Amino acid sequence: MLVKDKDLTAHNTFGIQVKAKWLAEYDSEESLRDILRQVRTEHGNCSEAPLRILHIGQGSNLLFLHDYEGLVLHNTMRDLQVVEEAEDHVKVCVGAGMVWDDFVATAIARGWFGVENLTAIPGEVGAAAVQNIGAYGAEVKDVVKEVYCIDLQSLEPRTFTCDEMQYAYRYSLMKSDAYRGRFAVTRVMFQLHKRFVPRLEYGALASQAKALGEELTAMKLRNVIREMRDTKLPDPKVWGNAGSFFMNPVVDRSVCEALQQQYAHMPYYDIDSCHVKIPAGWLIEQAGWKGRNLGPAGVYERQALVLVNRGGATGADIVRLCETIQKDVQDMFGIAIQPEVNFIV
Ligand code: EPU
Repeated sequence: MLVKDKDLTAHNTFGIQVKAKWLAEYDSEESLRDILRQVRTEHGNCSEAPLRILHIGQGSNLLFLHDYEGLVLHNTMRDLQVVEEAEDHVKVCVGAGMVWDDFVATAIARGWFGVENLTAIPGEVGAAAVQNIGAYGAEVKDVVKEVYCIDLQSLEPRTFTCDEMQYAYRYSLMKSDAYRGRFAVTRVMFQLHKRFVPRLEYGALASQAKALGEELTAMKLRNVIREMRDTKLPDPKVWGNAGSFFMNPVVDRSVCEALQQQYAHMPYYDIDSCHVKIPAGWLIEQAGWKGRNLGPAGVYERQALVLVNRGGATGADIVRLCETIQKDVQDMFGIAIQPEVNFIV
């Protein structure tokens, strides 16, 4: 379905009021191809510039800075097919438009494990595979086998294996300069386990889960995680937001050790022998920003990593807050923090 001059407020969880020149929702590879042909013709009749295309999921990791003068695509393929079943694992192929947490719920209900730590992360399956979503010691890359796409130029199908996706912390090939915006992810194949092996290494989770005793099930773990997230992360229906606004910076171990001389209680996570990750939320809180506002943009009072729309904020208001925080963190700690959220210009 193709709509012109479509308001995007409901398509971005920050609740920024912008419009798209075209918005198209597609429910099959063929309808995606038809839409692209149609819009290209319409666009070609009034402009010589290449057609701009933005593929969105639930819009939970986007910040629109202006109206979008191009085509916004949204996948509504939500089917799930079991493609292989073995004694210890199952492979399932899932439409990229399925709501991520519906997939987690379905997996647990059917006795498939590996995504329970990724409970209640906003967004859809396709975006999860592009962003390499992660939480509580797990990342989606651990269960992705293949990512099925349509090349938006040639309209040909293309499959990427997990290795080819070049996954890293909140990163995949689809986020590289060369590949960004070139493909629509239509389906993702996951390999899930049939035996539940709880992953509880993540600090805050370990203490919570221990309280549940021996009888820990994936469903109990899901509920614990949901409660932990609910207490720390704002509901976008109340305060527009896009989850973690910044990535946790990875720094040389020597930088961390030098800072520890001054900030003995600074939290950090080991990455490898030379690098550590420092929680950006801690840096922002120390810089005095937790719970503070700058115009209609603010820093959430229970998790400093989350920027919120206090009502009527524009993309520019959020960027102004982002840049002010970046500067203060840089001045105080000498560390550059980078947004995780995608700015759409
Ligand atoms: N911290 C503070 N002040 C704050 C927030 C955090 O001091 O306001 C400190 C905490 O005390 C803790 C550390 O920072 O020691 C880590 O905090 P938390 O456990 O809340 O996790 P995070 O590093 O802030 C990451 C992900 C989240 C994910 C959680 C849980 C990133 C950018 N964010 O946050 O992901 O839910 O871990 O695993 O890696 C998202 O991507 O949208 C998201 C919410």
